[in-house]
Amino acid sequence: MSPAIEFDEAASRAVEAAYLTTDVVAQRCTIMKALEVRPGERVLDIGSGPGLLAHDLAATVGAEGRLCGIDMSEAMVAMARARCAGQTQATFEVADACALPFDDGAFDVAVSTQVYEYVADIPTAFTELRRVLRPGGRLAILDADYGSLVIHTEDPARLARIVAAWDEHFVHAGLPRTLAPSLREAGFDVRQRDVIPMFNPEYHPNTFSYHLTMMMAMFAIGRCGVTQDDADAWLAELAALGRAGKYFYSLNRYLFIADKPDG
Ligand SMILES: C[S@@+](CC[C@H](N)C(=O)[O-])C[C@H]1O[C@@H](n2cnc3c(N)ncnc32)[C@H](O)[C@@H]1O
Repeated sequence: MSPAIEFDEAASRAVEAAYLTTDVVAQRCTIMKALEVRPGERVLDIGSGPGLLAHDLAATVGAEGRLCGIDMSEAMVAMARARCAGQTQATFEVADACALPFDDGAFDVAVSTQVYEYVADIPTAFTELRRVLRPGGRLAILDADYGSLVIHTEDPARLARIVAAWDEHFVHAGLPRTLAPSLREAGFDVRQRDVIPMFNPEYHPNTFSYHLTMMMAMFAIGRCGVTQDDADAWLAELAALGRAGKYFYSLNRYLFIADKPDG
């Protein structure tokens, strides 16, 4: 099964807007701190998207290091290349997480955020991930669990249809629940697990959920009986709830840090 969402130019710009908010800037800081990337290291970003984390990683490894990003989407690769144009240590190419175009042991560190929930064949993807990491290499994986999604509404039936439609945009709705055993089966030692909540009790453009709810509404149109009017009415409701001090959005993302055993 492949995800229904296509990360074309418009979807890529929408993801970028959501990922420039303070909530996701804070998430990137948490990941950078957990990975402890050092100057000179070789880092792979799988599903590098608009290149925001890749840019931070490339700045940290510096000119002596290497940052490679791969992504299935040409639009995303173009955005990442533009963002990192001044960083000669950063390169990006179109590739699949299940067929990484790199030699065995080519990287000290690998990172993949909000990507594996779109990848149907997790065992193959993790076998590839293990292959390209050197012994002793480390990785960070972050994914959302959509079972943790809580949105306040005064029209639960409409929201249920929109959420059901949104559920069609990924392959795995609850990937974090099985990530640790999947990583262990692929030969990794899981060292750290953390929850990163996207909790927005305000409706504001500088929040993750402001952009995500817009993406949900647009994606839902034509699915599960959701019409353009439903989508518009839901977004109007969210704005009204925000003005009334009644807005509430919460979604958990989970971070896993693991090591490839040395030897
Ligand atoms: C939600 S975006 C996350 C982007 C980036 N990792 C970040 O956190 O800013 C998901 C990305 O995963 C990419 N993707 C999905 N399936 C993929 C696959 N099988 N191989 C490589 N990239 C994939 C998409 O093209 C998209 O850029």
